[in-house]
Amino acid sequence: MAKRIIIQEPDELLRKKSREVEIFDERLSLLIDDLFETMEAADGVGLAAPQVSVLKRVAVVRTEDGSFELVNPIIIEADGEQLGEEGCLSVKGRYGKVRRPDKVKVEAFDRRGNKHVYEVQGFTARAFCHEIDHLDGILFIDKEEKQ
Ligand code: CO
Repeated sequence: MAKRIIIQEPDELLRKKSREVEIFDERLSLLIDDLFETMEAADGVGLAAPQVSVLKRVAVVRTEDGSFELVNPIIIEADGEQLGEEGCLSVKGRYGKVRRPDKVKVEAFDRRGNKHVYEVQGFTARAFCHEIDHLDGILFIDKEEKQ
């Protein structure tokens, strides 16, 4: 495992749409391990592959609800609403209020290509939505609500 460099806004790679993973190989497994290691070293709760300059639809999240590896994640249901503070390891020193669904149902694959459906809410739902946005080149600052 290795820690990777987290790129910073306004790096244009953060604005690209990432490609779906088609091959579930050792390289993908290594990427996921590195994402976890890099995220933990930076004291984050989520990290997406484009943040380490890999334009693949892969992200990791670790909250009190557990550790999640999300490959080709899709939000298949969203319910309710929450407004809360967010930050991002690629937007250092800035925090803002973002409106997100309170609950989401997300379909995603793990590193072995097994499909999972996660139903998460509150802070974990916020983290899932934030990381999935990264895969489409969207940052929380695009959705920030100014008071
Ligand atoms: Co982020």
